Amino acid sequence: MEPPKEFLDSFKPAAELFNSHLSQGSIVRILTHNDADGVASGGIVSRAASRGGAQFKTTVEKRLDAQILGEVAAEKPSIVVLTDFGSGYLELVAKTLPDVDTIILDHHMPMGDPSPRVVQVNPLQHGIDGSRDIAASGVCYLFAKTLDAKNADLAPLGLVGALGDQQDKGEKKSLKGVNTLIEEDATAAGLLSKEVDLIFYGHETRPIARAIANTTTPFIPGLSSREDNCVAFLNHIGIPLKTGDRMRSLSDLDEDEKRKLFSALSSHMVAQGCDAKTVHNLIGTVYTFKKEEATTPLRDGREYSSLLNACARMRRPSLGIGICLGDRGEAMKEAEQTVEEYRRKIGGYLDWVRTGDRIKELNSIYVLSAGDDIDENIVGVVSSILLGQGILKSTKPIVSAANSDDGTVKISSRIAEGTAYMGIHLGKIMQEAAGGVNGAGGGHDNAAGAFIPRGAEDDFIRRVDELVAKQWSGS
Ligand code: C5P
Repeated sequence: MEPPKEFLDSFKPAAELFNSHLSQGSIVRILTHNDADGVASGGIVSRAASRGGAQFKTTVEKRLDAQILGEVAAEKPSIVVLTDFGSGYLELVAKTLPDVDTIILDHHMPMGDPSPRVVQVNPLQHGIDGSRDIAASGVCYLFAKTLDAKNADLAPLGLVGALGDQQDKGEKKSLKGVNTLIEEDATAAGLLSKEVDLIFYGHETRPIARAIANTTTPFIPGLSSREDNCVAFLNHIGIPLKTGDRMRSLSDLDEDEKRKLFSALSSHMVAQGCDAKTVHNLIGTVYTFKKEEATTPLRDGREYSSLLNACARMRRPSLGIGICLGDRGEAMKEAEQTVEEYRRKIGGYLDWVRTGDRIKELNSIYVLSAGDDIDENIVGVVSSILLGQGILKSTKPIVSAANSDDGTVKISSRIAEGTAYMGIHLGKIMQEAAGGVNGAGGGHDNAAGAFIPRGAEDDFIRRVDELVAKQWSGS
């Protein structure tokens, strides 16, 4: 694609402000969001700060609120950088950090008026789709590259957030839009190769059963996170696991074996109640990071993002930030254990949802009320998996609620790509419905969230159901 000049120019004021603080010796205070895109974003800016010779402090938060920003203000920072959130909280930032230079690098819907001390870079202000064509990690990567062309080696991390936010909506599950410009940088630096294949993590490097078991998107009931079942499944369909003493990987399979595996997986998924269309998610563009160690989860772009996501959602975000900064060795071992626990948790939650008939269907939405039974940090991931599996009868959006440890209720909502509900803007609906019950919400058109007071769930859900119906009839 043609480089979007106006958008690229919008990085210059932010880079100038950042550089002026670097030359004054300011400590850079970075706050980022607790998902894969947020961790990759915070990691990129932290690395750019450190390469620029600055000290930095990076923390990862599930949301921005007056308390968190008040605590940051009390640190008396010279410069604050908010990544993967901030645009939805412009007035709060103006109120809590009125005298602090603040850079916002985000791809969520801007709301309110920024203070004069804020420099914001957001693709949505330049007609670029922030839900599909560039993630916050891409924005942070372009920012780092504007600071110094040497930061072009961070391009793979710029893609990790896009994969984490499931922006692989192009043909054959490829990244599209501005993401392809970042891909070009990564390829030119010899850091990236792409091919279309079965999408399981580690397709060149992992034993086949482990590659299938370790993959969480798509999540295959009975096989994901169950390596023992994958071994039995492969034995049953007659795919040898070894050549001599060597374990085979997916890339060792010949075309006939791949076809056989695909068809057996398709039948398995349909038998498990998944929509036949979702089996196409098994094949897609595989993003390989060529300079990462072949046997690690960082070699495959989707697996890298899944690892950062697991670290963030399991409340170990600094492990993920460390990995973005180049930590390997011990940190990788801990991160891999965290991924293991995260997968087991997701598997358990999905069993809880499926066996307990937990999802209610209203006029315009599905509702999953998880209470204390699903971790608030993981309820959004569970919602995405439920939609992606096609086990719900219709394509209505899903709205999930889980109790938050701060006494509020965490809401997550999702719309499946390619459905009739695509014209709806969940971010606006979350904002309006949460605002109506003294909560706060926002996000993208297809993935959004909110925090609302306990006890307000029924009122909130009723409002969302009505707003979805209203937007849908008007679309
Ligand atoms: O938390 P969850 O994964 O469900 O959030 C979906 C999207 O909505 C995320 O991109 C998140 O940043 C955004 N969101 C938001 N404001 C909120 C809650 C979530 O912008 N209050």
